[in-house]
Amino acid sequence: MNEREIRQILVGQRASDGAGVRLTRVLHPQRPLDPFLMLDEFNSDQADDYIAGFPPHPHRGFETVTYMIEGKMLHEDHLGNRGLLTSGAVQWMTAGRGIIHSEMPQQEEGRMRGFQLWINLPAAEKMKPPAYQDIAPEQIPVVALDGGRVKVIAGRFPHQDRVVTGPVRGVTTDPLYLDVQLAAGKRLDVPTPADYTALVYVFEGELMVADQAVRQGQLARLGPGAFICLQGSDGAGRALVLAARPIGEPIAQYGPFVMNTMAEVEQAIRDYQNGRYTE
Ligand code: FE2
Repeated sequence: MNEREIRQILVGQRASDGAGVRLTRVLHPQRPLDPFLMLDEFNSDQADDYIAGFPPHPHRGFETVTYMIEGKMLHEDHLGNRGLLTSGAVQWMTAGRGIIHSEMPQQEEGRMRGFQLWINLPAAEKMKPPAYQDIAPEQIPVVALDGGRVKVIAGRFPHQDRVVTGPVRGVTTDPLYLDVQLAAGKRLDVPTPADYTALVYVFEGELMVADQAVRQGQLARLGPGAFICLQGSDGAGRALVLAARPIGEPIAQYGPFVMNTMAEVEQAIRDYQNGRYTE
C-alpha cells in the first residue's frame, strides 16, 4: 500500500457563465485532468451573482454533476425531466448525444453555494442517449467518523468492517465523489484504485493532504497510489475528494461540447443549430 503524494496545487480563477453567474473555475476544460474536465464552485449571498442562472443551453459528449451545498435550483430539460435541487442534493446528468437544459435559481435572496463537475465520457459512449438522475439529500450515505464525517455521493468508501456505496451507479469512469469534513488532528485514509486520477479540493478551512497543508480554494492533484492521507489541520477542514479512471483519449472541447476531434465538435454545433438534439 503506497500513499499518494501531491503533484500539483491549482487555484481557481474568477469566471462568469450562463447568463452572468459569478463563479470560481477551479478546473478549466482547457487543462483537464482526465477524466475530469471542469470544476466550478459557486458561492455567494449576493443575488446579483446568481439570479440570472443558466437559461436553456446544450451539452454533448460528457456528464455534468451538480452538488448543492446551500440554496435551491430548478433543472428542466428537453426530455421533460424537472427536478428541484435543494441543499445537499445532487444531480447527475449524462449529456450523451445531446441534452438541452436550464438550471435556474429558485430564490431571490440568501446564499447559493455548490459545485458543478464535468466528467468525460469515452468515445464509445459520447453518443449514447442522455440520462438524468436526481439524488435527494437523504439518499446520500453519511459516515460518521471520530472527529468528522464523509458523505458518499459516488463510489465505494470502506469504513471499519463495511463498504459504504454512493447512490450514483453505472458510470464507466467509476468515479469516487466524497464530501469529507475533518476536525483538527483527525486522520482519514481514503483508498483509491492506484492508477485513477485523484483530486482533493479544500472548500472550507484547511486540510493536510499527504502531510502538506492545502488551504480553502486550493485543488491538490495527487500522484498514483493506493490511498490518500487526509488530516485535519489547526482548524476544521472540508473538501471534495474525487477519483476516477482516466479515459486516455484525445479531448476536443468547445463550450458545452466535449468530443474527441474538432470535426466532431463542429458536428455537435451543427446538430444543435439544426434542432437534432430534440428529435
Ligand atoms: Fe448545463
